[in-house]
Amino acid sequence: MRINTKIKIGNIEMKNPVAVASGTFGYGDEFEGLTDIKSLGAIVTKTITLHARVGNKPPRVTETPAGMLNSIGLENPGVERFLKEKMPSLVKFKIPIIVSIAGESTEEYAEIAKRLDSVREIDGIEINISCPNIQTNELIAQNEILTAEVVKSVKSVTKKTVITKLSPNVTNIVSIAKAAESAGTDAISLINTITAMAVDIKTRESRLGNITGGLSGPAIKPIALHMVWKVYRSVGIPIIGMGGIMDWKDALEFILCGAKAVMVGTANFVNPDAAGEIITGIENYLKSARAQDISGLVGKLRV
Ligand SMILES: Cc1cc2nc3c(=O)[nH]c(=O)nc-3n(C[C@H](O)[C@H](O)[C@H](O)COP(=O)(O)O)c2cc1C
Repeated sequence: MRINTKIKIGNIEMKNPVAVASGTFGYGDEFEGLTDIKSLGAIVTKTITLHARVGNKPPRVTETPAGMLNSIGLENPGVERFLKEKMPSLVKFKIPIIVSIAGESTEEYAEIAKRLDSVREIDGIEINISCPNIQTNELIAQNEILTAEVVKSVKSVTKKTVITKLSPNVTNIVSIAKAAESAGTDAISLINTITAMAVDIKTRESRLGNITGGLSGPAIKPIALHMVWKVYRSVGIPIIGMGGIMDWKDALEFILCGAKAVMVGTANFVNPDAAGEIITGIENYLKSARAQDISGLVGKLRV
């Protein structure tokens, strides 16, 4: 039986619904030889900002039961060096390239998006709004008005597919998702990491130089699934689900809850071929379930 794993997010055509999540796959080059990058549905780059950032004080990662904590602090070379130094190697994988961006103001988001818009090889822009707004100090993703403002400003300067990545650190994920949708985002991705801590009782210090960080991995999967399910029932645009996807079964749970595509994050650190194995697992599942098309499973949770 022929199976179809192709899906479309905005104008991005993916040969399968499995992408790698921002910040967990670098700019691809680090993973060359460790997995077949060409087989991925898409690659999302580490978030880039207008100017280079050195990131937070170390230690910047620590392991926790069922997950990891990170406080990288958006270390990146800045948009211009990204385009010069990282794009050439990304292009050769011949898979959709989604560039994750973050700014310290609405204008900065638009400025980065404008510079990326003229680069033909970039397929999509993922807006990482898990950054604090300079004026209010809350995350942009914690405020409907700021979320809408950032989405509108990015949409106004680019024709590329725009994906808005939501933060789980909110009271009402649905209202933020709806604000992003009304502002014109083509798709929504969720979830980013959950703010958390770990303490070393010997030193009585935090295990992270930045004191707090973001929790990812299996520990957050049930929360992520719930958020995907809630957002799926409230918006009409495609959802890309992530948070603790370690194998193909996890990926299918997200698809059944409404995700059209999934992203693999922390699992890449455990097994660099995790996304590849998830793609094969989904294909095998479709064959054994005699399901022809992956799209037929999206949101098909029995309730
Ligand atoms: C080390 C590390 C770095 C990350 N950096 C970014 C980033 O730069 N931009 C972003 O939007 N998300 C970043 N994330 C969040 C992931 O993309 C993903 O949303 C989150 O980890 C949940 O998925 P997971 O549980 O599969 O890892 C990072 C996560 C980790 C673990």
